[in-house]
Amino acid sequence: MPNLDDVVREIADEMRQRTDRGAVASYIPELARVDPGAFGLAVIDADGRAAVGGDADVPFSIQSISKVFTLTLALGMVGDRLWRRVGREPSGSPFNSIVQLERESGVPRNPFINAGAIAVTDLILSRHQPREALGEILRFMQFLAQDSSIVIDEAVAASEQRTGFRNAALANYMRSFGVIDGPVEYTLGVYYHHCAIAMTCRQLATAGRFLAHSGRDPSTGHLVVQAERAKRINAVMLTCGHYDGSGEFAYRVGLPGKSGVGGGILAVAPGRASIAVWSPGLDAAGNSHLGRIALEALTRRMGWSIF
Ligand code: DON
Repeated sequence: MPNLDDVVREIADEMRQRTDRGAVASYIPELARVDPGAFGLAVIDADGRAAVGGDADVPFSIQSISKVFTLTLALGMVGDRLWRRVGREPSGSPFNSIVQLERESGVPRNPFINAGAIAVTDLILSRHQPREALGEILRFMQFLAQDSSIVIDEAVAASEQRTGFRNAALANYMRSFGVIDGPVEYTLGVYYHHCAIAMTCRQLATAGRFLAHSGRDPSTGHLVVQAERAKRINAVMLTCGHYDGSGEFAYRVGLPGKSGVGGGILAVAPGRASIAVWSPGLDAAGNSHLGRIALEALTRRMGWSIF
């Protein structure tokens, strides 16, 4: 069995040296300022040991990775009624696409494309005022990551709010079908802010542990969700977590994973480890280029795959 610390260190060294790094997202102006040379990797095994490499303790914008946690929270609030508002099929389309909404009565294909995540945020808002909803989401992240210092990067949220015309279109379009009930500007405000939560790879890998261990965080013993729900969230991560790159990610990495346009990926090796990687340069589908390559190397060297 290869030594996890050695493997993580080797991969971080290899990734630092690579010149093919993808392109940093520029449609959210604040994200374009991030150093494309950054690379971080954190793996937390079943015993709670952390193996880290590179910039594993540098915070980055988690962006769409937050959608895993808003889905978890919303399922906790409304249960399986959530699936009346949002589907659970891969879209085969880019994360910000609008085209399927017209054909499918405004119901987004899954909770990880932007339209689906905005609908999930709106469901959370059906139970809370915007400020409370955001507090609830942030506290959930702090609780799971066991770190109360986690904050929202207000500059990133404001930057996206100023330029989020596509998301405003998606939200208004869904509102016209009644898939969203609340005021669109509140829903978008909360959505931009939860996407702008800043976390390190180590914090994110800690927060993902319940998904790797049948819904229970092994360090606290706390049952975050029932095992069946953890299985289902992982299934949606596997099939939809990388948008129209989900098939490629499953093919190469063989684990459920959720990407964010900040260059992070949370991946889950059930029973073995929770993994977070960060490299800001993206591929054509908007997923971290070196993040995926690093995860492919990790799962191959460790022999980790769900298949
Ligand atoms: O709504 C957006 O476009 C961003 N806040 C999140 C998109 C994202 O992270 C796509 N993931 N790779």
